[in-house]
Amino acid sequence: MKQLRLGLSMFRMGYHVAAWRHPGNQPDGSMDLAYFRGITQAAEAAKFDLVFMADELAIRGADNPAGSRCRSSHVAELEPITLLSALAPLTERIGLVSTGSTTYSEPFNLARQVLSLDHMSGGRAGWNVVTSWGKEDALNFGHMDTPDYDTRYDRASEFVDVVRGLWNSFDADAFIRDQKSGIFYDPDKMHELNHQGQFFSVRGPLHMARSPQGEPVIFFAGDSEAGRAVAARAADVVFTAKQDLADAQAFYASIKDRLPGLGRDDEDLLIMPGLMPIVGRTKAEAQAKYDALQALIDPRVGLASLYDRLGDLSDYDLDGPVPEPKDPAFRSRAEGMYKLAQREGYTIRQLYTTLAAGRGHRMVIGTGEEIADEMQLWLETRAADGFNIIPTHLPDALNDFTELVLPDLQNRGLFRTEYEGATLRENLGLPVKSLR
Ligand SMILES: Cc1cc2nc3c(=O)[nH]c(=O)nc-3n(C[C@H](O)[C@H](O)[C@H](O)COP(=O)(O)O)c2cc1C
Repeated sequence: MKQLRLGLSMFRMGYHVAAWRHPGNQPDGSMDLAYFRGITQAAEAAKFDLVFMADELAIRGADNPAGSRCRSSHVAELEPITLLSALAPLTERIGLVSTGSTTYSEPFNLARQVLSLDHMSGGRAGWNVVTSWGKEDALNFGHMDTPDYDTRYDRASEFVDVVRGLWNSFDADAFIRDQKSGIFYDPDKMHELNHQGQFFSVRGPLHMARSPQGEPVIFFAGDSEAGRAVAARAADVVFTAKQDLADAQAFYASIKDRLPGLGRDDEDLLIMPGLMPIVGRTKAEAQAKYDALQALIDPRVGLASLYDRLGDLSDYDLDGPVPEPKDPAFRSRAEGMYKLAQREGYTIRQLYTTLAAGRGHRMVIGTGEEIADEMQLWLETRAADGFNIIPTHLPDALNDFTELVLPDLQNRGLFRTEYEGATLRENLGLPVKSLR
């Protein structure tokens, strides 16, 4: 029986905009290694495939409606590759996946950092490829604004190729390290990259042995046409935000249908949408948990949560319809939000209240059985190969999921009770990948 793959996103102490205000949260957790250690070890005890860190390169929302920014916890966060490196020796089997921007870093630096994490964790690292879209990110890197869409994706595509090329600098058996003969490595098994492209010129090689898992696992987040093309070619896992089954199935098919033409098999690439479960012993208990979180949303923060996708809507009637997005920097998410508002007939106020929880990811409020049903349905109808669990707030939402949903999934034979392998790639059931 096909198994579900599960990630846990640890970003921002939970994805709900009011997560940090929940009495069960540790409000200074986002700067505290011990907080992340507790969450990661709990996720490992539950046999999650991986913990996942999203990332941003600035405090976003400078132009957000007045009074919203000082109410946000997003202004204090640890750098994710550093954080995951600290978590590596504190864990044994769980995968450690960090977001890394292709817009504002150099492939050599990123290839080196991720491969270091991979070696230090015994082959448990992954890199989530993103193209940074925030204007505030641009301002921290000497640019006035985000590069246009095509430029960002052209650069991302070349960036991924260079990183993979660097990860393949040495064959798996290149290092002889023969103390007697004095030969450290076999020169025939070292490869200079000599890359000259539109954005990068990188000679290589990367001075690091090959990954214990061939190459670290590549996640890809971004689902416009340009994004899908890069994902189908180079990614191992696609992380996406899909609100309903039909959209998720269409997305799944659109990626998987490209694989045979690229010489890849269906199982070579996994699709993992985000899923925010709000789970209770009864539906009423789950609903009460949701309502308690919603009551913590300050209206200024709610409106600000739409700002960077749909623009400043403060001049519009909050109880009127949602306007169509105009040339947004984050097209897929803006369109998803707009479609949701149209389908459900949401006003601006209703939209931000709904999205304040899942931020564009699917949210399900229910019992463990209901959530397990939904996950099974998505798995069996080619909408998902697994999910990146997007908790409302941490650690409570992880504990609820582990206690109330996972045993049901395990009873159905849909989720492991023990890790199968030592590396992230093995646990995800992905083939060892290399360019040679
Ligand atoms: C599920 C998902 C997660 C993302 N996570 C991040 C992130 O952590 N940091 C970031 O800067 N961008 C993130 N992005 C933004 C993408 O890299 C990209 O800029 C954006 O999706 C616009 O491209 P698209 O229209 O192809 O989706 C994410 C996108 C998606 C769909």
